[in-house]
Amino acid sequence: MSQKDVGNKVPIYKLKKTDEVMRYYDEWGIENKYDQDMLDWNYTGPKETAEVFMKYQKNTDAKIYDAGCGTGLVGVELQKYGYKNFFGADLSKKLLDLVPQNLYQKLDQIDLNKKINEKENSYDAVLCVGTFTFGHVKPPALDEFIRITKPGGHICFTINEGIHEEYGFDKKITELDQKNKWQKLEFFKSNYIASKDVNAWLGLYKVL
Ligand SMILES: C[S@@+](CC[C@H](N)C(=O)[O-])C[C@H]1O[C@@H](n2cnc3c(N)ncnc32)[C@H](O)[C@@H]1O
Repeated sequence: MSQKDVGNKVPIYKLKKTDEVMRYYDEWGIENKYDQDMLDWNYTGPKETAEVFMKYQKNTDAKIYDAGCGTGLVGVELQKYGYKNFFGADLSKKLLDLVPQNLYQKLDQIDLNKKINEKENSYDAVLCVGTFTFGHVKPPALDEFIRITKPGGHICFTINEGIHEEYGFDKKITELDQKNKWQKLEFFKSNYIASKDVNAWLGLYKVL
């Protein structure tokens, strides 16, 4: 079966460099256009991820690191289920400024392709939605997510189907399985941005 060509469906997928991606998102945030576009496109990544996460993490006080939080759409979805302890990180200052007031305990502007300035075993979960996509965050970030998550905690993420193999996420996931770093609880093709015929793998893993 031929792979769907999803690399040309969303303008940001053409960008390669981190500073270009940052500028694009900073502009996308003007007049809240990012949030409006996500509504118009029926972007379901945050909702689908929250639904899977709440099946496994029953403690609504869980300390959650939202990697690539953007405008906080994941926090908004999780809040509907009672979760409240969110820490966010993103490349775009403009999008971080749009996160609803008091929703996250802390917001950091960082590049997730670099080491994360957080201690080992400090979170109950890392969520990363929409951020493993063309030109964004690369597979080694998964090592960092495991490092900052407590044993028994969860890592829940989407991977745009167009980069899963091209960027080596498939190999990274196999490596982490074989090294017993984590255990797969869910991995399936989600709707994601079905209105644009772009789907994503949705994974939920328990850190060992
Ligand atoms: C499609 S948005 C998803 C945002 C949010 N999680 C959501 O679901 O609405 C991708 C996010 O990844 C961020 N991003 C891209 N490259 C990044 C990097 N190298 N480090 C940190 N964040 C990055 C962007 O700024 C943007 O907010």
